[in-house]
Amino acid sequence: MAHRDLPYSATKPSVGETSPVRVAVFASGDGTNLQTLLDRCRPPEAARIVLVASDKPAAGALDRARTSGVATHIIPDPSDGDAIVEVLRDVETDLVVLAGYLKLVPLGVVRAFEGRMINIHPALLPAFGGKGMYGALVHRAVIESGATVSGVTVHLVNEEFDRGRIVAQWPVPVKAADTPETLAARVLEVEHQLLPAVVLTAARNGKVVRLPFSQAAFSAGDAPAVTNTLVST
Ligand code: GRF
Repeated sequence: MAHRDLPYSATKPSVGETSPVRVAVFASGDGTNLQTLLDRCRPPEAARIVLVASDKPAAGALDRARTSGVATHIIPDPSDGDAIVEVLRDVETDLVVLAGYLKLVPLGVVRAFEGRMINIHPALLPAFGGKGMYGALVHRAVIESGATVSGVTVHLVNEEFDRGRIVAQWPVPVKAADTPETLAARVLEVEHQLLPAVVLTAARNGKVVRLPFSQAAFSAGDAPAVTNTLVST
């Protein structure tokens, strides 16, 4: 299978049939989502993590990258789009994944990686997203709203926080006794399944594709169903 059809091969002069899709991950925090990508994007899969970038020198995500032998980059100025594009091109990035990256991505980077940059958000967008909606703040807002369902969204990145086209969503129940912490933990379990599913599916297809939602994935219990077709594809 040719893993790097358009648009990934657009900047490459020659591409081997089995050349894996090169993924750069941006993360500001602990990097548990990054870890799932490091664990899953290995042979024989069609994707490799080639760079982990962070605006925070002390981010746990950078340690996870180093432990896995993946190149790291500390972003000196998150608003400098040209510099970020240069770093991404230096490692021949095909796909950019924002996994807990808290800065707004500059327009120049959005344009350079249009259709090739995704973000994961711990709620069902377009609700509970936008500037300032991250981490526990998201889960607190969900609980305070009285919503009985939250979830995970993966979307393409555009020039606004959390507003690009939605690629995949997976609901997670909100329980009456939930605190932001218990809800975050339940949502994070699903994030760890959905993000690799989107990345690996994109790699196999040569472009970011919408994942269908399977009703079987919704569980009213504590644990999300793990037999979902999104995971096993
Ligand atoms: C996740 O909930 C992610 O959706 C959000 O920030 C959190 C990052 O978690 N954007 P981690 O750093 O991947 O553990």
